[in-house]
Amino acid sequence: MSVEPNRGAAGGAGAAGTAASQGADVATGGLVQRLGGRLAFGGDYNPEQWDEAVWREDDALMARAGVNLVTVGVFSWALLEPEEGRYDFGRLDAHLDRLHAAGVAVDLATPTASPPPWFTLAHPDAMPVTADGVRLVHGSRDTYCLAAPAYREAAVRIATALAERYGDHPAVAMWHVHNEYATVCYCDHAAAAFRTWLRRRHGTLDKLNDAWGTAFWSQRYASWDEILPPRATQWHRNPALTLDYRRFWSDQALAGYREQREAIRAHSPGRPVVTNLMVPEYQVLDLWAFGREVDFVGIDHYPCGPGIEAAADIAFGGDRARSFGGGRPWLLIEQGTNTLYSGDRVLPKEPGDVLRHSVAHIAHGSEGALFFQWRQSKAGAEMWHSAMVPHAGPDSRIFREVTGTGAAVSRLAEVAGSRVRARAAVLHDSDAWWALDVQGTPSAELDYHGALRRAHRALWDAGVTADFAHPAAPGLDRYPLLVAPALHLLSETAAAAAREYVRGGGTLLVQHFSGVVDEHHQAWLGGYPAPALREALGIRVEEYRPLAQGEVLRLSDGSTGTAWSESVEPAGATPVTTYTHGMLAGRPALTRHSYGRGTAWYLSTRLDDTAYGDLMVRLTVEAGVPPELTPPLPGVEAVRRWSPDGTRAWLFLLNHTDGPLPVPQAPGGHELLTGRQVAPGELRLPARGAAVLRQEP
Ligand code: GAL
Repeated sequence: MSVEPNRGAAGGAGAAGTAASQGADVATGGLVQRLGGRLAFGGDYNPEQWDEAVWREDDALMARAGVNLVTVGVFSWALLEPEEGRYDFGRLDAHLDRLHAAGVAVDLATPTASPPPWFTLAHPDAMPVTADGVRLVHGSRDTYCLAAPAYREAAVRIATALAERYGDHPAVAMWHVHNEYATVCYCDHAAAAFRTWLRRRHGTLDKLNDAWGTAFWSQRYASWDEILPPRATQWHRNPALTLDYRRFWSDQALAGYREQREAIRAHSPGRPVVTNLMVPEYQVLDLWAFGREVDFVGIDHYPCGPGIEAAADIAFGGDRARSFGGGRPWLLIEQGTNTLYSGDRVLPKEPGDVLRHSVAHIAHGSEGALFFQWRQSKAGAEMWHSAMVPHAGPDSRIFREVTGTGAAVSRLAEVAGSRVRARAAVLHDSDAWWALDVQGTPSAELDYHGALRRAHRALWDAGVTADFAHPAAPGLDRYPLLVAPALHLLSETAAAAAREYVRGGGTLLVQHFSGVVDEHHQAWLGGYPAPALREALGIRVEEYRPLAQGEVLRLSDGSTGTAWSESVEPAGATPVTTYTHGMLAGRPALTRHSYGRGTAWYLSTRLDDTAYGDLMVRLTVEAGVPPELTPPLPGVEAVRRWSPDGTRAWLFLLNHTDGPLPVPQAPGGHELLTGRQVAPGELRLPARGAAVLRQEP
């Protein structure tokens, strides 16, 4: 079992990944080619839940809706392998043949996210154990331990059997390994694999003890066998151990993915292999590492919140998907037709949302729009989850909207292969996220994910399309503007890269409590942040001062800060705003430093929304990063995709408001959804609708 540490510095939109070297046939280009040049439209298809009469209706309805790609077999393990080593492929043979005859391509999944009951009984040691020591049993899904040899062997076995049988089946257009790697385990198998991983990472126990600071609280390890996963313990766990476990577990998942991918590639060369990633609050995987290993990035996306919140969330997810794939086109593998998560309930989408959300994903670089799932289940744990064909059947608003969306997606075929070009990026590093997610940080309001979203949202509100980039990725200088909202952990290399970025002419905004620990989770000494970053920022943070819940600090320009404040000493930087009262009165809250040919800003508190938005606009102006639409139109999102040679562009305009809107600043061009030519300044967006203008500059 491979436990190669596999995480590292590289990663960022534009970075060439492993997949790129596999050639165009296994990237989205190969998929689109297999779909006859069309973008993908369809969803998870689970015919095993239905009978023959329904399958016949499925064929007819899929044709009506313009479905050309379905994901098959995601949760079929118990049917495909009814007992260990005995396969029954009869039903799957028939479904693939039927789909192929109907002109529907297949994204064939390995069913390894849900081992059958016989597997649990035969291999109880392969069931996951929680941090509290509870061993889980079957009866749901995602119940397996990625470090258990029996699970890994069984997963590769079923993946191999599927690839041998269907590797060259004409229906199979791509492979879908597993489903949303997410389960974390703390069992003895995991402990053993963790120790192996740690030996590779740290080399010697002395180095591990130093890196983890085990002199504190008598934690010194005298033998590798003494090291345990971060299981339930009396009080705060060692943060460096917790961080290394996160890294280790992501590598475990990646090793599991790679094994299946290689088994498939051996029998199905030339067809893309991917897994469906969850992009929003998904902390278990280092998505930069996965982005380098998949043939293209595939994501599942379920917006949290209705209206404009859903729209911002789709942009956030899409920009992340694109960035994890090195800027290449990606694929939306799952979304809900009528599903918006909102706290303890699922809210319905408004009329028009299915189409606009699908077009929004495509605007951000997806080569199609797939859903979970084709037909709403009549039984089982997700029977109330929306689908393309709801319980009510095809005579329903949802199916009509699905059909309309299928037609719209088919009109967008010519955008396939084009790319979004972003000139601003938000720095994101899983290590920084995990490092801030340990116990014992100074404030519960230090929220990595929240800060990341907020930075992206402020750029999105300013009408600017943003990438995400890893702080140590090569080529950051192609972005005139970089925002580092929560780079809690920063290695010396990444700090030096940030300094050189500014020196070379970039504009960088760094926000509070960034660059305060190194890659081992040890504090940078002598004042925060890391020395190279201090130099670029022209400041030294002497003391952090978390604010009480609800405490509001007024700043010199009338704006306010909450959650956090810091005692910042300028060392070359100019204060832009200062704190006005309390112990920090007169000290800088926001600073600006000209360094080399660039400018570095430091923000030491959580600015109120308006001031933060204004700051982001100011930075985009200073950095020369214009909005896609000038001036931006409130409620209208604009994103451009460019042909690889830059001779054509498609301007996607999405009306996230409830009323029709004229867009006088829109250029002219051929509008793909209506098929009409639009004169400059004449575009009118329907309420909750979209337009896609072809431009040939
Ligand atoms: C996804 C998952 C699907 C289905 C869906 C419901 O995360 O991959 O199988 O559960 O959520 O929203």
